[in-house]
Amino acid sequence: MTSSEIRERFLRFFEKRGHAVVPSASLVPENDPSALFTTAGMQPLVPYLMGEPHPSGKRLVNVQKCVRTVDIEEIGDNTHATFFEMMGNWSLGDYFKEDAIKWSYEFLTSKEEGLGLDPARLYVTVFEGDENAPRDDESANIWKKIFSDAGTSGERIYFLPAKSNWWSPGDNGPCGPDSEMFYDVTGKLTAGMTKEEYLAADERQDVVEIWNDVFMEYEKKDGYVIGRLAQQNVDTGSGLERVTMVVQGKDNIFDTDLLAPLMKTMEVRLPYYGSQTSIVSSERERRIIADHMRTAVMMIADGVIPSNTDRGYILRRLIRRMVVKAGGKLTPENVAALVAAVAGIYSGVYDKVGDNIENIAKEINREIEKFNNTLPRGMKELSKIPAGGMVSGAQASMFFTTYGLPFEMITELAKERNISVDEIGFREEMKKHQALSRAGAVEKFKGGLADTSEKTVMLHTCTHLMLAGLRKYLGDHIHQAGSNITVERTRFDFTHPEKVPRETLDKVEAYVNEAIGKGCAVSIEQMPKADAQARDVEGSFWEKYPDMVNVYVVKAPEGVVYSQELCGGPHVGNTSAIKGTFKIVKEEASSAGVRRIKAVLE
Ligand code: ALA
Repeated sequence: MTSSEIRERFLRFFEKRGHAVVPSASLVPENDPSALFTTAGMQPLVPYLMGEPHPSGKRLVNVQKCVRTVDIEEIGDNTHATFFEMMGNWSLGDYFKEDAIKWSYEFLTSKEEGLGLDPARLYVTVFEGDENAPRDDESANIWKKIFSDAGTSGERIYFLPAKSNWWSPGDNGPCGPDSEMFYDVTGKLTAGMTKEEYLAADERQDVVEIWNDVFMEYEKKDGYVIGRLAQQNVDTGSGLERVTMVVQGKDNIFDTDLLAPLMKTMEVRLPYYGSQTSIVSSERERRIIADHMRTAVMMIADGVIPSNTDRGYILRRLIRRMVVKAGGKLTPENVAALVAAVAGIYSGVYDKVGDNIENIAKEINREIEKFNNTLPRGMKELSKIPAGGMVSGAQASMFFTTYGLPFEMITELAKERNISVDEIGFREEMKKHQALSRAGAVEKFKGGLADTSEKTVMLHTCTHLMLAGLRKYLGDHIHQAGSNITVERTRFDFTHPEKVPRETLDKVEAYVNEAIGKGCAVSIEQMPKADAQARDVEGSFWEKYPDMVNVYVVKAPEGVVYSQELCGGPHVGNTSAIKGTFKIVKEEASSAGVRRIKAVLE
């Protein structure tokens, strides 16, 4: 079975069970100010898990592109990847544990409709309970019955703590206990292992997690579970790479049809891979390059470009790490061949890659060229430090600012040579330089949800109003080209060819503040996409939205509509909740035909 067939089967299986198929969202969360990348299928669905009605109904299914860099150290092993696809089905306050578990099992094992995996090689874990929620006997009993009906003998259900079996997207948002499914890739394990034996098998990667059913009925705030949600949701995730691996009988994801063509191209193009100094195996390095290349291609296809902050920094680090690992072999021709290999794998699935091969390769090559200008000198300086020595804070900061070596890479290269790095010293130096805060960068590098505080929500509503104001005073050619909101400010990119005069910015500011002053209600209206377009609702990326869409309308008590825009929230309920005066502090060029505004609430 090919990976394309697996995707199709998954969607059809759940479609037949009443789920609406929704398209994959972009890797760059649109209209979600709190996240750097889409890290899980549930992420674009957070507002709906929290109770907002979804335009396509209560049962959804999709295959979502994801980027997770929190496991970056694991890349190169058999099962981890920074880019992956997650198959998921959702119940938004509809079915719960029984159906979720039953369908997961059925899809995994059914020969007719599912993957036809061997039930005797399945093991599952459930939540053992703690102060936040009781032991999940309900799920365990559902599993017991399934296994007993199937005649698969012996103990194969293990209770584990929150560390393994409680899932949340970050410190805030919906969360809950989960039940995870593992597959014995060796075919040699037998049911009835003790918990210790089972955990040891997991540690050896003899069993591989292939599916997670999260029972999201709780809410987290600032890292603490604060209580139950109004509805019981199901959030599931099954990694396509891993599932393909077990279906295709491989022991690692790089041998599946999702990565093998890329690995093959690497063998031809980069026969002498591996840096001179590395102590890790070449095979591992080759996998790291393949992984990072695939992720870089996917990120650029979704509009990310290398830079020193946020998403761009993550992309930069992936490309630079690849350059170091490839030991100078990433020539423009080789990059073009590797990008083409990735595009070939996703042809017919994510055609955005194939349609932009040249631009993607150009973007990667530009970054490599920049790095190649400074890397050799950086490496030379680093080689002067004797084994057992230490990179001082000042040196580390010089490697970063002068030679462009990301901090994580300095530590990685240093470790290979048995050199330590003064991290605290580095941070102090960087603070002195007022450059990129390493702590901030690392936090962002770990990806996921950053901050969903009230301030960012206020700024998000202001951003809608600002876009409406810009369109009012400058014209309908203006659309969102990107947005990023933190507690401090909103940064907003929009399509416009030239500098916006200060007088116009003043008018836009006044427009936003007027709407705040009037206490406008912010409501969600659901409508068919065609109706929204006919009603002149503002939105970019229309093609990514399902047939029914959510439109956020900001309307004054006397009826004037200040903004109506396609969005997934979150927003304030009324603009009177917005504290402060809206102020545009900067307007500058972002890229060709795109301007960038920074604005704050004072
Ligand atoms: N949200 C769950 C996960 O990512 C399904 O594992």
